Parts: sequence; structure tokens; C-alpha cells
Amino acid sequence: MDILRAAEQLRDPLAAYASVDRSRPYGACWVMANMVGGLDGSAAIGGRVADLSTEPDAELFVSMRALADVVLVGAQTLRREGYGGLSLPEARVAARVAAGKPGEPVFAVVTRSLDVDWAARPFADPQGGRSIVITCETADPGRMERARRVADVIVAGRERVDPAVAMLRLSERGHRVVLCEGGPTWLGELVATGQLDELCLTVSPLMGGDPLPVSVSPPGSDLVRWSLRHVLADGDTLFLRYERRREGR
Ligand SMILES: NC(=O)c1ccc[n+]([C@@H]2O[C@H](COP(=O)([O-])OP(=O)(O)OC[C@H]3O[C@@H](n4cnc5c(N)ncnc54)[C@H](OP(=O)(O)O)[C@@H]3O)[C@@H](O)[C@H]2O)c1
Repeated sequence: MDILRAAEQLRDPLAAYASVDRSRPYGACWVMANMVGGLDGSAAIGGRVADLSTEPDAELFVSMRALADVVLVGAQTLRREGYGGLSLPEARVAARVAAGKPGEPVFAVVTRSLDVDWAARPFADPQGGRSIVITCETADPGRMERARRVADVIVAGRERVDPAVAMLRLSERGHRVVLCEGGPTWLGELVATGQLDELCLTVSPLMGGDPLPVSVSPPGSDLVRWSLRHVLADGDTLFLRYERRREGR
């Protein structure tokens, strides 16, 4: 299989991702994650991603959103990184609209505490339609009420959000491709519950970041095996695309 290509030789690095068939039976969501890690597997530097990312990674990171119906993050990533607009390049927005999709994906956050800045742009000025808050039954009712004023609230589990229920609720709203942008804790839950279909992992050419792996496996998780689908290289940055191995594939 010809899987190693130089990204700078490709006219559009997103093309290798855009051509993937992400349809699932019965309208289920295809869940993909886009993460960056150092050579030592670290997922952050000083609690943020910025210094870990490289120029080609930052470009692909934004473009990748063009493939998604929903951009989903754990609340700690929202608190640490801050999210402004999703900043899709104009040409990508136009291509989505031409394909009959909303110009931008919907933003969604998973949180039990509901300790979220509701004045932040994803809630105060959402570009892809009302944002979504995914939480659980035992969340604080007052905070849930506050969240409902600025976002659609999905309750998916009792004490914690159950990733399978969360993805089912998103599919019931007509969403087909969910792009998880971390963080490692929420990603680990998606992986452990068999919800993650695809991992796009950028390997950044440095070591010495925070002791935080790209995915944190909940205690007792089983091993999950992956198949490599492509490798792109742009200068010192590697882009790996894996799909979860399924029975018979
Ligand atoms: N390298 C990368 O590509 C990348 C990507 C994203 C983030 N990061 C980095 O990762 C760090 C943040 O990641 P993190 O692992 O600490 O946190 P995270 O996964 O972003 O968020 C964890 C939070 O999500 C909520 N959550 C997760 N699972 C839940 C469940 N089952 N039910 C209810 N709520 C749930 C909880 O929010 P509440 O506390 O509100 O209840 C929890 O505290 C930052 O340093 C960031 O820079 C790196």
C-alpha cells in the first residue's frame, strides 16, 4: 500500500482526508479525532497546544473542521485553550455550502461541572448554529438552566456522560461526522467505549512537553488496535491517519 507521501507535494493536504468514506450503517455517527503529540507522546506544553503544533499542523487542524458536522471537545480543553470561532477558511465554507451543508460545523462541549464561560464566542456568537452542551442528569440544575439559555443541552448519562449515548443523541439530531479535538481525558473515554473510528495524529518534532499523553485510558480499559491508512510528511512534521480495527476488516 502506498501510504507514505510528502504533504507539500500534494496540492491540497486535506484531500487525503476528504476522500475517506465516513458513512456508517443506520445513520450512526463516524467519530474522528485530530490530535497532535510530541515525539515523546506529550499532548501539551505548559498546559496548552500552541507550542506543540507546527505550521503545517495548524493549517490542517483548521481545515479538518470542514469535514465535520460537529466539533467536539472536553470542557478542560475549552477552559485551557479558549475557543473563538472555528475559523474555517472561506473556500472551505463555500465548498460546504455548495454541498448543501451549513457553512461551519456545530461546536459541542462535554462537561459534568457545567463550569463553562457562557459569554465565550461558541455560545455568545456561534457560527455553525446553536452550540451543544453534553452533560449528565446529576449536573447542577441551576447551571443546566443557564446553559440552556445559550446552547442546546443533551443529557447523556446519569453520573457522567456515556460516550455511546452522547454519539447516539448527536446522530438523532442528524449529525454524521463528529470531530473530537480532545482533550486526552475525553478522547480516552471515546476510545475505551469503542466510539472512536478514526485517529488523525500529527507527530510534532519535539520532546519535553507536559506529562500528558494524547489519550488517557480510563482504568481497566482494554487495548484498542488500529490500522494505518496514510502517512503524510511536511518538513519535520508527520501526519498519521489510523482507523480502528473491526472484526473482519
Ligand atoms: N495535543 C492535542 O492535540 C490536544 C488537544 C486538546 C487538548 N489538549 C490539551 O489537553 C489538556 C486538556 O485535556 P484534559 O485531558 O485535561 O481535559 P479534556 O479531556 O479536554 O476535558 C476533561 C473534562 O471534560 C469533561 N468530561 C470528560 N469526560 C466526561 C464524562 N464522561 N462525563 C462528563 N464530563 C466529562 C469534564 O468536564 P468538567 O470538569 O467540566 O465536568 C472533564 O473535566 C490541555 O492542556 C490542552 O492543551 C491537547
